[in-house]
Amino acid sequence: MPGFSREDLLSHARAKRPEFEAILKKIVEIPSVSVEPNRKGEVHRAAEYAVSLLQSFGAKATLYETKGHPIVYGRFDRGPDYPTVTVYNHLDVQPAEGPDWNTEPFSFIREGDVYRGRGTTDDKGPAMTALFGARYAFEQKIPLNIHFLWELEEEIGSPSFETTIRANAKEFATDSVVVSDTVWVSRARPACPAGLRGLQGFRFELQTGETDQHSGTAGGAARNPVTELCQLIADCVDGKTGRVRIPGFYKDVAPPTKKELEDLKRCGFTVKDFKKDHLFRSLRVDDAMEVMKRIWMMPTFEVHGIAGGYQGPGVKTIIPPKATAIVSCRLVPKMSAAKVVKLVKAFVKDKNPDVKVSAEHELPPYEGKTTGPYADAIRGAMKFAFGKEPVFVREGGSIGAVLSMEKVLKTPVFFLGLSLPEHGYHAPNENYDWPQAEGGIAAFADYFRRLAEM
Ligand code: BES
Ligand code: MN
Ligand code: MN
Repeated sequence: MPGFSREDLLSHARAKRPEFEAILKKIVEIPSVSVEPNRKGEVHRAAEYAVSLLQSFGAKATLYETKGHPIVYGRFDRGPDYPTVTVYNHLDVQPAEGPDWNTEPFSFIREGDVYRGRGTTDDKGPAMTALFGARYAFEQKIPLNIHFLWELEEEIGSPSFETTIRANAKEFATDSVVVSDTVWVSRARPACPAGLRGLQGFRFELQTGETDQHSGTAGGAARNPVTELCQLIADCVDGKTGRVRIPGFYKDVAPPTKKELEDLKRCGFTVKDFKKDHLFRSLRVDDAMEVMKRIWMMPTFEVHGIAGGYQGPGVKTIIPPKATAIVSCRLVPKMSAAKVVKLVKAFVKDKNPDVKVSAEHELPPYEGKTTGPYADAIRGAMKFAFGKEPVFVREGGSIGAVLSMEKVLKTPVFFLGLSLPEHGYHAPNENYDWPQAEGGIAAFADYFRRLAEM
């Protein structure tokens, strides 16, 4: 096929770099924070921008309203006799505030090859990278329909995704899906997820009074909801080791296979880089294998925040009336979210029956495919673009849409992720960079060509 050498593609990407940056700036500067109710308009504006962007690229595009935030569907159609691939990304982002940002989170800042701003790497940068790769492949007239499914509720657990794709399953029909929303092990080595962890979120709430009360007049007899929640959490999980103490929690966890252990050994992970990329001072364990098993292959019980009581300057001597903890469990393949909800609810009821537990996000774990023609096409495309075959190791994060697409669209899902650990998923100073975008454009274009030839 003409115009498809690595050099052609890289020089195409370089020529389009100013356009890529202008578009990424536009979309990053729309603060599409899906969890914040007062940003609903901004999330919608991001979807409208995405539709107009797809149209300006010569694609057909439609905005689907849902019960929550919209979904954008775009299509480069070659013809009904050709196979179709659907590219999944999300255009909503995590909240971004706080003193640790060195630049404005919703201002797109370019510093040399680095692009800064909330959503640059999770997931707007990879989404735009895939779009540029797709446009090139389409303009080269490869015999393939390339569609885009862009979600705006991923960061809140995809509550409307499955019903929306079910309601439009004919329209969204596809032969395969490729997701670009995952992280490499390091810049030196492309990686594709061999699986994703699932997630089950919870809120623990305890109310023991009506208002703040003087801790001198009531302390000793009054129940303290913050203290009780802390105790409950310590009953659930050993804070030092992370070992979950809820009976039966680990029952369905399958031990890693020999092949998986070998893949871990050669995937290029180092504890030193992990600590540096995530700004950790120390870890629970220092052995690389042990760290990898913990972040990719084991379930967790994590406290995201505890609220309640006095937070201001000095010491205000009150007994608070209520406390809340936001908690979640990461799940690994074979674990069931419903089972974990049952276990946690029964355990809490036993330990502290006054604590109200509500189950939140429910994302099933995902077992990926690492063999077969699609996985080989991913390998080939990564090697073509970045000079190295990817390692397939599991990843620790969760993407709710993946299982829904497999189930409802009855189609296999593959991953062509482009983010790096140091890009700072969900962290302050999130960033993306041109080398990942340039290589990514080439990788996507080449992947589409391989699909067309399959
Ligand atoms: N892109 C991530 C998922 C991810 C993280 C994949 C790390 C691979 C490695 C996604 O945007 C995400 O953050 N998902 C959330 C979902 C939750 C908020 C419901 C997650 O994993 O916490
Ligand atoms: Mn993401
Ligand atoms: Mn995310």
